Amino acid sequence: MARQTTIVGNWKMYGSRAMAERFVAGLPAEASAVELVVCAPAGLIALLAPALAPRGVGLGGQDCHPHAEGAHTGDTSAALLADLGATYVIVGHSERRRDHGETDALVRAKAVAALAAGLTPIICVGETLAERDSGAATAVVAAQIACSVPPGDVVVAYEPVWAIGTGRTASVQDIADMHAMLRGLVGAETRLLYGGSVKPGNAAEILAAANVDGALVGGASLNPAEWLAIAAAALAR
Ligand code: 13P
Repeated sequence: MARQTTIVGNWKMYGSRAMAERFVAGLPAEASAVELVVCAPAGLIALLAPALAPRGVGLGGQDCHPHAEGAHTGDTSAALLADLGATYVIVGHSERRRDHGETDALVRAKAVAALAAGLTPIICVGETLAERDSGAATAVVAAQIACSVPPGDVVVAYEPVWAIGTGRTASVQDIADMHAMLRGLVGAETRLLYGGSVKPGNAAEILAAANVDGALVGGASLNPAEWLAIAAAALAR
């Protein structure tokens, strides 16, 4: 079966009730042929679920705890995200690996918890600039895949750390090379997204690269017009 083209917006720690309402108002009433998913802050999931569903836009969290429930103040369970209407959750984003010291083993445990709750985990991998400059990018990313991706229905997002929020994207050749390597590791069924400064102006060439099944979009996903322009580029490929 062909892999579904998927454009995921990662709102990170941005947004408010008013912003979410403005965002929804900027979406078309009918569903796109491209799968669209908003990964919102946990506090906005309940508000967005009934608003996005009629427009055919999916919803996801940005993190979950590896345990199903328990005494873990401030954390969010995968089961609660699912209960509130999410069907996806990002795990192992480089900002969480950096800010919270998340290891591959923890990311894998979170992905397993997501699958157990019926969510599709979007598992992020990617090298730092120092790792790329030293020629270690492929080895680093392959090790992250080996240690943070469990078996099951998962999505993998390749996000070179140095391309996130910097306006710098990997070259199309670098993306194609990394995605070819990833395809060999994850198999034909698993969707592979690229993330890192994807904008309306560069989406078409990135999404045309072999083995790129969609994008994980940060900054440009906060504006519905920009996000939809990226989705349009995905449709046109
Ligand atoms: P930017 O699109 O803002 O570079 O963010 C990418 C990202 O981290 C998505 O998860």
